[in-house]
Amino acid sequence: MKKTVGFAVIGLGHIGKRHAHIINEHPEAQLLGIVDPDPLQRAATTELGYDIPCFESIDDFIAANVPGVDVVCICTPNYLHAAYAEQILNNKYHVVIEKPMALTKADCERVIFKSLNVSKNAFIVKQNRYSPPSKWLKEVVAGGKLGDIHMVQINCYWNRDDRYYKGGEHPWKGKLKMDGGTLFTQFSHFIDIMYWVFGDVKNIHSRFWNYTHQHNIDFEDSGLVQFEFVNGGLGCINFSTSCWGKNMESSITVVGSKGSLKIGGQYMNEVEYCHIENYEMPELPPTNPPNDYGPYKGSAANHHYIIQNVVDTLKGRAAIDTNALEGLKVVDIIERMYETRNIEQLFEKKTYEYS
Ligand SMILES: NC(=O)c1ccc[n+]([C@@H]2O[C@H](COP(=O)([O-])OP(=O)(O)OC[C@H]3O[C@@H](n4cnc5c(N)ncnc54)[C@H](O)[C@@H]3O)[C@@H](O)[C@H]2O)c1
Repeated sequence: MKKTVGFAVIGLGHIGKRHAHIINEHPEAQLLGIVDPDPLQRAATTELGYDIPCFESIDDFIAANVPGVDVVCICTPNYLHAAYAEQILNNKYHVVIEKPMALTKADCERVIFKSLNVSKNAFIVKQNRYSPPSKWLKEVVAGGKLGDIHMVQINCYWNRDDRYYKGGEHPWKGKLKMDGGTLFTQFSHFIDIMYWVFGDVKNIHSRFWNYTHQHNIDFEDSGLVQFEFVNGGLGCINFSTSCWGKNMESSITVVGSKGSLKIGGQYMNEVEYCHIENYEMPELPPTNPPNDYGPYKGSAANHHYIIQNVVDTLKGRAAIDTNALEGLKVVDIIERMYETRNIEQLFEKKTYEYS
């Protein structure tokens, strides 16, 4: 068997660089190619010390048939994920797809069909699952320690001001067709944690508004979404990217029949409250810091777990931690949350009607 797993990265922006760095450092992985239409990003590969072929387009990469590539990481803007994943799978590579897997459930279905059809894996990036408080929450709920789940409240209050959208550095961010919305780009990790731990939702009621981003994004910057869990219990996600100055919190509060808990911090990184019948809170290992993009911060810097899982899976030592069906469910839930979103109404100076 080949000793290393060969990777290529499509899209060498903020997160693509993290993929490339982690792959390059991994003893059982090899970075063999980069694709980015931006000449500055391609030039960055030399500055980063990678002596590997760079391509302007996915078509050029596929035509070159770079020897040794097993897996391709798709780190492009959201709207390209599904089409590129299909193309990569079609050419018999495994694929790692950054979140969100796609912008519609139908696109996710096409990727899953192709993956099954060509017997190649699709790995979805949901690195917050590896944070110790998330793993602990999953264990506590799956072990039935909280009893029946009554209420789950997720609060995501972040800052994404003009510094984030400045100078067209990320021309796709904030554009409806390329980005999709705040739940896709900023908060899909938290919807993933919710789905992973509590399962699917139904009877969704949403309201959205754009408070401080009327000039630079095409959709809401804030929202309240309420629903029921298929397994029982009420839930909501309250979110905003309009916090002044910096991220405030990403938290989850759970009320069950045998106990309550709250995980908070800027990115669900610390257990703030735990009171459960006959249960003593264990000491958790420290959480990795958030991805640092200069003036603003993202979710946990856990991408090394993703690359490790790809290597382990392809070497037959593990199963996929986040599979394409789970990626689809997150997209499906967000799509249903957005079903009643009326984009035009978000930009009128009047009160938004409950839908
Ligand atoms: N898992 C996480 O925590 C996390 C964090 C940040 C971003 N992301 C996701 O990663 C993706 C990229 O986000 P980012 O912040 O790195 O954006 P970015 O704008 O910094 O980078 C995108 C890169 O893709 C390149 N690109 C654009 N069109 C392309 C094409 N047709 N072919 C190949 N490359 C192309 C751009 O030139 C740019 O280098 C998004 O889907 C985003 O949601 C995930």
